[in-house]
Amino acid sequence: MPLQTEANLIKKFPPYLFARLNAEKLAARHKGEDVIDFSMGNPDNPTPQPVVDKLIEVVQDKKSHRYSTSKGIPAFLRAVSRWYERKYGVSIDPKTEAVSAIGSKEGLAHLGLAVINRGDKVLTPTPTYPIHHYSVIIAGGTLVPISILDGPEAFLRNLGKAYSKARPKPKILIINFPHNPTTVCVEPDFFKEIVKWAKKNQVLVVHDLAYADIVFDGYKSPSFLATPGAKDIGVESFTLSKSYNMAGWRVGFIAGNPKVIASLAKIKSYMDYGIFTPIQVAAITALDSPEENLRKLAAVYQERRDIMADGMNKMGWPVDKPKAAMYLWAKIPQRYAKMNSLDFSMMLLKEAAVSISPGSGFGSLGEGYVRIALVENKDRIRQALRNIKKLFS
Ligand SMILES: Cc1ncc(COP(=O)(O)O)c(C=O)c1O
Repeated sequence: MPLQTEANLIKKFPPYLFARLNAEKLAARHKGEDVIDFSMGNPDNPTPQPVVDKLIEVVQDKKSHRYSTSKGIPAFLRAVSRWYERKYGVSIDPKTEAVSAIGSKEGLAHLGLAVINRGDKVLTPTPTYPIHHYSVIIAGGTLVPISILDGPEAFLRNLGKAYSKARPKPKILIINFPHNPTTVCVEPDFFKEIVKWAKKNQVLVVHDLAYADIVFDGYKSPSFLATPGAKDIGVESFTLSKSYNMAGWRVGFIAGNPKVIASLAKIKSYMDYGIFTPIQVAAITALDSPEENLRKLAAVYQERRDIMADGMNKMGWPVDKPKAAMYLWAKIPQRYAKMNSLDFSMMLLKEAAVSISPGSGFGSLGEGYVRIALVENKDRIRQALRNIKKLFS
């Protein structure tokens, strides 16, 4: 009998598509190549100094070095409650309606285990950020993917159709707007429709609000929980990774329906001891910081969006300007249309020293597209455009 080294669950995971691209990127860097990296939604700017200062202050307190609480320290959860009230007029009971997450990726993964039974059907947009699919697979659920490529109205129509066809009936819907990777955005009416539909069918809604603050041209991204009745049937996740450049800190939260929050808090209490207390305290400084800082951050991404999108359109690679999120979502340019998205991305890396994400990494419907994360500065974006243009001429 061979040594058992891989559970059946792990065997279900396809080889990580980005691994090949990452290996090539590293090899190019080892050769001294200056790779301009738009592949991951990993913010390049530093965490605000007051947040760093608070971490340093609290870490000096020896009492802060013990185990924290997986649910989140009360002061952090109160800050979550203030955040919801100030930004969206939503009232969240910090004791029963919010739980901290070690980044929203962790929160969503464990939420899957907390609410999905083996064999349950779960509706998700596709293509999408991988944890929206893999939280379902990890929990033993079955995906019912719905295309998000044609925008929110088509998504709603397809959602209704997929629900009526599915047997057994789906129990959960996972959504994310502004959406990664397609940048599709919604208005509050969309969430009203979702709440109406979810109540009628008793479907639990999980909304991922990761890009709440990365918004452009006056667009305001709505909170699902701000929809009347949303708390009866759903929860919402938020991360400090994007709005406060805190991706490495691993801090976020999930809020909403108290029964769902209790299930998540319960499973988390078996899995982890919570985020290091000094990080939770510093996160309070971030959540309480002035909205003006967020507008400045969004302006940085908006400028990058304009330079990249204008440059691509000018060289004959059509791309729309998104209203939110830190990405451009583009079709593979016509002249390379015969290539798949991984081969095209590999070619761009080899020939132009520019790294982007193949759309197929977000689900099969992402094939034919690529995602460009705006995490390089303006000069490097311009350099990337010059490199790509050489390839095009
Ligand atoms: C839609 C979405 N949700 C969640 C995450 C994960 O965020 P966190 O750093 O909080 O785990 C990301 C990261 O790119 C994302 O794009």
